[in-house]
Amino acid sequence: MPPIDVRGHSLMYDDTGDGEVVLCIHGFPFNRSMWDEARMALASRYRVLSPDLRGFGESSGSDSWTLDDQANDLIELLDRLGIDRAAVLGLSMGGYIALNLARRYPEHLWAMVLIDTKATADNYEAKQNRLKTAETALREGAAPIAAQMLPKLLSPANADDQRLVERLNSMMLTTNPKTIANAAHAMASRPDSTQYLSTMAMPSLVIVGNDDQITTPHDAHAMVNALPNSSLVTIPAAGHMSVLEQPEIAYGAIRAFLEQAHNA
Ligand code: MLT
Repeated sequence: MPPIDVRGHSLMYDDTGDGEVVLCIHGFPFNRSMWDEARMALASRYRVLSPDLRGFGESSGSDSWTLDDQANDLIELLDRLGIDRAAVLGLSMGGYIALNLARRYPEHLWAMVLIDTKATADNYEAKQNRLKTAETALREGAAPIAAQMLPKLLSPANADDQRLVERLNSMMLTTNPKTIANAAHAMASRPDSTQYLSTMAMPSLVIVGNDDQITTPHDAHAMVNALPNSSLVTIPAAGHMSVLEQPEIAYGAIRAFLEQAHNA
């Protein structure tokens, strides 16, 4: 796909398959290539859109942005493609953006899949860590951020999977340090979505890796308890990157959920 101009930025995206639209929103500091398995698993039935968010992957950046900006970019992307409604899949930061969309643009969502993410905002300590992440990235580049994050991303069951480790490292190390800093500030200032969960009536699936230490099974249970129309799938032998660690189990659950939501 050629890039598309959205709100003054050039967004790269993959657009695979036909049918109802599934919009995949990647996590931090990754890019749209983390959704390759989603395209393989879902594109025989759905039109799978997977953009590089502003500043990530092959999309152009801007001086600073908020998660509202990222959500607005995605609404504009759908609009530019003539799409009225999509199911959103968001992993971690992508989940924060999916929740932002569900709060501000519910009419555009026919379903929501929240993967290894949480509704709560950062506490004081987490915010301080974000500021350090931003400073480190601007001073030293992406490498120290990747080195800090890698040990926390995978379940112990997958920590020695060199192919997966290289794939994660390659996404993290190629992310622009300025984008890392912008994202750290944007995530630090995101609001707590907990109070809005009870108003999010679209069918929702929450997925969490049983060994996720960044956004834990406890966070996932809390969202399912508050979302009125939701269910939970816990993936064994998976950490924060559950859809990459156990793609068959994760996309099996996502396919079954989308089918049910679509027919509802
Ligand atoms: C992500 O995977 O998107 C990040 O771990 C989210 C975060 O740092 O809160």
